[in-house]
Amino acid sequence: MWPYPKVIAHRGGGTLSPENTLAAMQCGLDYGFSAVEFDVMLSKDGIPVLMHDPEFGRTVSGKGLVAECDAVDLQKMDAGRWFSDKFIGETVPTYEEVVRFCRVHGIWMNVEIKPSPGVEQETGRVVAELTAKLFADVSVTDVQHLPLFSSFEFPALLAAKQAAPQIPRGFLMDEINPDWRADLQELSAVALHTNHKHLNLDLARQVKDAGYGLFCYTVNTTERAKEILSWGVDAFCTDRIDLIPADF
Ligand code: G3P
Ligand code: MG
Repeated sequence: MWPYPKVIAHRGGGTLSPENTLAAMQCGLDYGFSAVEFDVMLSKDGIPVLMHDPEFGRTVSGKGLVAECDAVDLQKMDAGRWFSDKFIGETVPTYEEVVRFCRVHGIWMNVEIKPSPGVEQETGRVVAELTAKLFADVSVTDVQHLPLFSSFEFPALLAAKQAAPQIPRGFLMDEINPDWRADLQELSAVALHTNHKHLNLDLARQVKDAGYGLFCYTVNTTERAKEILSWGVDAFCTDRIDLIPADF
């Protein structure tokens, strides 16, 4: 059984706020969401921060790589201006700051481990170790109050499993690959996360019949949400938190 919420705000506040910022987490809350997905990457000095792209230029202006910048400098960077003037001054938050915000507000987290190229294992290990520390007060059986890790990078999730086996994992695949059963087994994963665009009823049934949770990204219409839920999909994230309510 899927113990987590059904509808999850993608990157914090979907397309209504600058992704992966504290303002995005607040935006999700304002729209009634108490479940969130966000992306976590390491700074040069090994501090997990919220970031989707490994290079600057889209959400943070300038050129260069996140992996070549210390956290203290990332925390000064504007991650809101690209979105709108209203968010000027919104900075890159650390993972720890966001976990604290989410826990204070009762927000459940799908933590996507998003390594810069070449540091997959290190990212998985560091994020898992910090998560274990931040949730040391939560019983391992109380899974609703633990985050769910996900990643497209198998080595990152394997490293997370080794560092903090008590934090559950879901393996992210754009298209479900033929080896999905073996991959999920090796990761001791609880769920398969996949792009709804490549999912069909038959595949959904196979995953559910195998006893795994099934999570889809990123579903932005009510019609498609209804369709995949009718196939047995347990949960999905959405950019359209204004269109698809948390209690959909
Ligand atoms: O975790 C689901 C989804 O966020 C994966 O894609 O690129 O939006 O991180 P992306
Ligand atoms: Mg993501």
